[in-house]
Amino acid sequence: MAHVAVVTGGTRGIGRAICLSLQRDGFTVVANYGGNDDKARAFTDETGIPAYKFDVGDHEATLAACEKIADEVGVIDVVVNNAGITRDGTLLKMSYEEWDDVMRTNLGGCFNMAKATFAGMKERKWGRIVNIGSINGQAGQYGQVNYAAAKSGIHGFTKALAQEGARYGITVNAIAPGYIDTDMVAAVPENVLEKIVAKIPVGRLGQASEIARGVSFLASEEGAFITGSTLSINGGQHMY
Ligand code: CAA
Repeated sequence: MAHVAVVTGGTRGIGRAICLSLQRDGFTVVANYGGNDDKARAFTDETGIPAYKFDVGDHEATLAACEKIADEVGVIDVVVNNAGITRDGTLLKMSYEEWDDVMRTNLGGCFNMAKATFAGMKERKWGRIVNIGSINGQAGQYGQVNYAAAKSGIHGFTKALAQEGARYGITVNAIAPGYIDTDMVAAVPENVLEKIVAKIPVGRLGQASEIARGVSFLASEEGAFITGSTLSINGGQHMY
């Protein structure tokens, strides 16, 4: 039977591309989304992939939703922690709420999804967790103390959990995308984005499918010996 893979933030942007790539690989894919019902409905109509609405930053809601997915679709063997938000602003302009929203969604979401699924993976002695970090968690970014801290936290979380999963056949890895052509990056002011793109050696933004390819690789059977690693996919912008 095909493994069930849950992709958080899976109906748009990088998450959507990851869903399509894992579907192509033969996984039974489930997408999570947080807010945009219209986009989620269109996504399911187009792909046949069911979309479950819950806030990955909400611990209880995430546990309940993962139980529901296990009942309705099947036990969860693959988790892709992709859901993420930005609330950019320099420290002096950033509110506590903007700090907290990003931490609980981007980093808390990884914890909540792992708590909901890790015991089952351990019992079945097989699992794949892929966490979407960021170049900005590796290098920092002006105006993103919240996002950079959360993404950097994801890289630490990945290395710690990889050690806990290794002897049970569970791999835990991260991908650190650079600037990818998505709604999130389109929200960066044009003049700021131009300066960022000028510093990407490949000379362009990345495509969501170029991140998804990496996820497919890490989720595959052949990825069994890769754990605790971070795959940077950033057009050469930051070599870490
Ligand atoms: N380094 C040093 N100084 C900088 C700087 C930088 N990288 N960027 C801006 N500044 C300076 C500006 O030159 C300006 O200085 P002056 O006042 O002397 O001219 C000052 O900081 C204020 O800049 P802004 O006018 O831009 O300030 P703002 O308060 O209007 O906006 C900001 C600040 C919201 C952080 C805005 O600059 C911004 O949106 N930056 C982009 C942040 C970014 O890259 N976000 C990534 C989102 S995509 C993502 O996160 C996905 C991923 O994983 C890669």
